[in-house]
Amino acid sequence: MNEKLFTVRLSADGAAVEILDQTLLPNTVKYLTLTKAEDIWEAIFKLRVRGAPAIGVCAGFGMYVLAQQITDEDYDVFLSELERAGEYLNSSRPTAVNLSFAVKRMVAVVHNHTGLVRSELLPLLYKECMDIYNEDRAMCRAISENGLSLVKSGDGILTHCNAGALAATEYGTGLGTLLLGKELGYDFKVYSDETRPLLQGARLTSFELYKAGIDVTLICDNSASLLMKQGKINACFVGCDRVAANGDTANKIGTRSVAINAKYHDIPFYVFCPSSTIDFDCKCGDDIIIEERSGDEIKTLFFETPVALPEVKCYNPAFDVTDAELITAIITEKGIARYPYTESLAELFR
Ligand code: MRU
Repeated sequence: MNEKLFTVRLSADGAAVEILDQTLLPNTVKYLTLTKAEDIWEAIFKLRVRGAPAIGVCAGFGMYVLAQQITDEDYDVFLSELERAGEYLNSSRPTAVNLSFAVKRMVAVVHNHTGLVRSELLPLLYKECMDIYNEDRAMCRAISENGLSLVKSGDGILTHCNAGALAATEYGTGLGTLLLGKELGYDFKVYSDETRPLLQGARLTSFELYKAGIDVTLICDNSASLLMKQGKINACFVGCDRVAANGDTANKIGTRSVAINAKYHDIPFYVFCPSSTIDFDCKCGDDIIIEERSGDEIKTLFFETPVALPEVKCYNPAFDVTDAELITAIITEKGIARYPYTESLAELFR
């Protein structure tokens, strides 16, 4: 991302999580310093920090911050309070597996060091949350490099939602190949779906790519199939929030429509996925919990006056699941997996 911005980090004294408040972008750049469990929970729930990998990194840092606030030195008390904090943070959003992945890793540190006291556990927890952060940076870099083999300079790329540095660390996942490619001299023409209802494509993706000097054009979600028919799109790039063992992929609502359109027009549809987003415990997409959010996001959030009557019902699932058969390839840090994914993902990661 723009060098001066960061998405999420641990404060210099380690006592707070610092985040860029993404709800205010692109018009206002404001950082928040979070120390209380309720504030970290709220920041994730309200999408101040969002994108599956970034949520995971935030949860890792959050667990370390909250661990320091446990005053009891006793191992059992420390473990049960940390578990409680983890359950609480984990309840903020259900779909992105990176959240529970990070929480579980932090709790596992304590489980794996039975009998140590608080002051001995804290340095281990610090190391674990920094590992989660640094591993994410390395995965994003490797995914971005692997994706370069799928594109050439001049390609038109369609994106949905935001899977850049704002959604992860450094390059991000779905936008990483574009950001790295730009540094290496590739020219892409990117079309960013606005991504109703929270407009991550408009507010975040077009902001990030424009700041990186990439040719980006914002389109309404419902324009995508026309652009495909017009021959403007050579490939679709998206991130993911949870990938089941068979490759079914949960990502921002609307992703599945993009994939179906791409299939119809014979355009490759690529999912960029760090291993922290693969959930081998989910056999298929039916096992993935889809977050449902308030109808106010559809009716009022970005409008001066409501666009529908208060009495009108809304249904606002925040994610959908793209069937594995619609996905041309899943690009991971370990390499590129192709259908059937039950075999190809297992081969890369087991
Ligand atoms: O609701 P959000 O903004 O957290 O949803 C994010 C997405 O769907 C992203 O595309 C996904 O997390 C991949 S981020 C690298």
